[in-house]
Amino acid sequence: MSEKTQQIFNFPFEEFESSSALNISEKELVEKAEEIAKGAYAKYSNFSVGAAVLLENGTIVTGSNQENAAYPSGLCAERVALFYASSQYPDTPVKAIAVTALRNKQPLDEPVPPCGSCRQVFVEWEKRFNQPFVVLMAGKKKIIKIEKASWLLPFNFQSDFL
Ligand code: THU
Repeated sequence: MSEKTQQIFNFPFEEFESSSALNISEKELVEKAEEIAKGAYAKYSNFSVGAAVLLENGTIVTGSNQENAAYPSGLCAERVALFYASSQYPDTPVKAIAVTALRNKQPLDEPVPPCGSCRQVFVEWEKRFNQPFVVLMAGKKKIIKIEKASWLLPFNFQSDFL
């Protein structure tokens, strides 16, 4: 006889109407993401993404998406920022990441959700430092805040499986 139980993944998130509703360090993080997005190398998609990573030591590291004529050789802003932060400060945990985007140089009203590959990196980073970090997805008219990055990737693959 087989038995079946239904389970549901659920996680809380907060929505804000603008960055003025955020606390001061979150607001600064979003502003840094907005600033760096402007310099993205996004000539193929015209979709410029900026990410700002706040480290435990208070340092903010930023990155933008870097595209390539061989499309898969490009990299998302979130991973550019996280990998650079990890290269410079390999032992310093991440506290938060803010992400924002421009389409054809115009800031988006809606928040941009990180892609699946970036979420996989978020999972790895939470595990390696054994602590959760906040994700802020910032649009002009809405900002979403999630307390634990790995909530964005249920049933994720981790080193325990290896
Ligand atoms: N992109 C990011 O940088 N981050 C995301 O979370 C979504 C997508 C970039 C990749 C590519 O350069 C462009 O946006 C269009 O997909």
